This record gives sequence, structure tokens and C-alpha cells, in this order.
Amino acid sequence: MGISILGAGCCLPQQEVDNHAFESFIETSDEWITTRTGIHCRRISDGILTYQMGAEAARQALKDADTAPEEIDMVLATTVTADTTTPSLACLAAAEVGIKTAPCMDLNAACTGFVYALDVAEKYLSTGSAKKILILSAEMMSRIVNFKDRSSCVLFGDGAAAVVVGPSDKMYHSWLACNLDGRYKIFSKATNSENPFRKKDFDWPEEVAEMQPGLMEMAGNEVYRFATQAMPEAVQRCCEKAGFTPEQLDRIIPHQANLRIIRTALKHLGLPEEKVHINIQHYGNISSACIPLSLCEMKRAGELHPGDKICLVGFGSGLTYGAAVLEW
Ligand code: ACO
Repeated sequence: MGISILGAGCCLPQQEVDNHAFESFIETSDEWITTRTGIHCRRISDGILTYQMGAEAARQALKDADTAPEEIDMVLATTVTADTTTPSLACLAAAEVGIKTAPCMDLNAACTGFVYALDVAEKYLSTGSAKKILILSAEMMSRIVNFKDRSSCVLFGDGAAAVVVGPSDKMYHSWLACNLDGRYKIFSKATNSENPFRKKDFDWPEEVAEMQPGLMEMAGNEVYRFATQAMPEAVQRCCEKAGFTPEQLDRIIPHQANLRIIRTALKHLGLPEEKVHINIQHYGNISSACIPLSLCEMKRAGELHPGDKICLVGFGSGLTYGAAVLEW
């Protein structure tokens, strides 16, 4: 039993911010950002909320899948940048598109979120517990980015993408993991209410004690090293489970964190760049929305053909990582 992606949609904020725009408030240059990351510009919300981007992407995915809101049996949302702590992003976005009673939940596996969510969806679909599941991945990274930190603020963007998935007899395999030694390497503390009963500061581990709540901090070089080995490992292990080699893949859809990471991972796998969808130059890193956004773009461009073996591969805070291979 496998899954079929029945439809896809996406939504990006109108506001496009190029690398030059950063030169006025941090010491950086278009040349540095382009050569070190591959990013030329990104979209940044100038008011649109995470759930509104998610809802628009979901609306398009439902239309593309020729599916009415009442046909959806479950909504899975992935995000690290929801508008609310509660209710979930899934509840807010689903209500906007006219879904009335389907179970809704959020899943946080950072940038690997979509790959994890697809795997959860597959379990519900393969047991017959659901017939159609809406997965929406929506992120407003600009909400947690520290715009005073030049080594991270240039990397991220905002946006959303969604898919409708159903059961099928096509091939599907996954391989998911975490490297928990790296749990402090990409970190953002929750904010707290004023509390008259708390008499002292929280006892955070030393590694993160000084970090400011609400902002993301990243050990860029260490994450870089992790990513360049984690992505090939995930692809390799997932292909092993599927019973073929990475060379037999038709397309690879990686998380878009840094063009150099993608190229190094490909080199480790011995695969040519033509097999990979790359859009980081336009959008930067939109965390869990990167992979479904690529899927949506490729579907619309007619780049995916029946029978193609596709590999989705991601890594992110946690440090989560993983891959899924599926037949289009
Ligand atoms: N502009 C100009 N100079 C900069 C900038 C900038 N925006 N950022 C850093 N520099 C400087 C540094 O200060 C350093 O200067 P120094 O030599 O005087 O100390 C120099 O450039 C080199 O810095 P490095 O950190 O070694 O640069 P590197 O080539 O490694 O690139 C980067 C840094 C882009 C952060 C890279 O390490 C990277 O992409 N890491 C992975 C990030 C990632 O994948 N994050 C995933 C997030 S996933 C999620 O879940 C949120």
C-alpha cells in the first residue's frame, strides 16, 4: 500500500526581499549571500499570517485534487512558526477552507516536518482510517529570525504549500531519524507570560541559557556539517528499504537550506544536479514548506511523470532528518 498525491497548492507573501535590502542594517553583501548560500531573494510577510498562507495553499490543493472540504478525513499541519500556541495551525487553516469536523493537528519536526507528516498520513491511509488527508506546511520564519544576526537572518523566508493525499498501490517507503545530540544547534525558546508566582529564572541548560525567548539561534557551521552527511544517509537508507539504489531515482526534492549543502550531498551520493529541484534562489529556507512548495512547482510545470521514482529528503532542528521515496 502506498500513497498518491492528488493535488498541490502554494502561497507566498507578495513582498519580495532581495539580498541588497539587508545591506542597510547588517554588514553583508549580495555577493556574500549569493556565493555562500545560493539565495538571491526571499518572500517576507508584510502582514499575511501563517494560517492565511496555509489556508490559501490548502484551497489550491483541494481544487487541484478536485476534492471538496467535506471529503477531507484529517488535516495535518507542519510548522515551527504558528500564529498561535493554541489552537493549532491546522484548526485555523482548515476552518478557513470550509472544513467543519475533520480531526486537525500540528506536527513539529522543523524543516523535516513535511516528510514526517507524509509518513503519518501514509499510516492512516494504509490502515483505511482515512481516505483523503490534507497536509499543509506553513511558515513565517521572519517571526523568529533575529534580524541582527547576519549569519542566520539572510537564510530564511516565509510561505506555505499543501497537498491532498490518498491511498494507492504505488510504491512508498520512508526512513526517519533524529540526532538528538544536536538538539541545541537550532534553538528557539518559547516566550512566557508575566507570572507573579515564579520567583527565579528558568533553569535552562548552559548551552542555551543566554538565548533570548522568541528568537532562533543556529550554530551554522555545525548544522552545515550535519546536513551534508544526514541528507545522503537518509536518501541511501530509504532507497535501501525500497530495494533500489539512489542512481535509480528520477527526481530528488531536498530541503532548501543552502545550495552548497545540496551540492555536497549530491556529490556524496554521486548524483547529477539535473535530478534535483532547486528553488532556494527565489525563496530561501522556508523550513517545512520547502519540500511541498517544490512538489507544487514541479507538478504545475509537468516535471513529474507517472512511474517516476521521487525522493523527498529533509533535515532541521532537533536535529530531525529523513527521507521518503514514492512513485508518482
Ligand atoms: N554576510 C557577510 N558575512 C557573513 C555573513 C553575512 N550574511 N554571515 C556570516 N558572515 C561571516 C562570518 O562572520 C565569518 O566572518 P569571519 O571569518 O570574519 O569570522 C565569515 O562570514 C565566514 O562565516 P562562516 O560561518 O564560516 O560561513 P559559511 O560559509 O559556513 O556560511 C552559513 C554560513 C550560510 C550559515 C552556513 O554555515 C550554513 O548554511 N549552515 C547551515 C544552515 C542551515 O542549514 N540551517 C538549517 C536550518 S533548518 C531549520 O530547521 C530552521
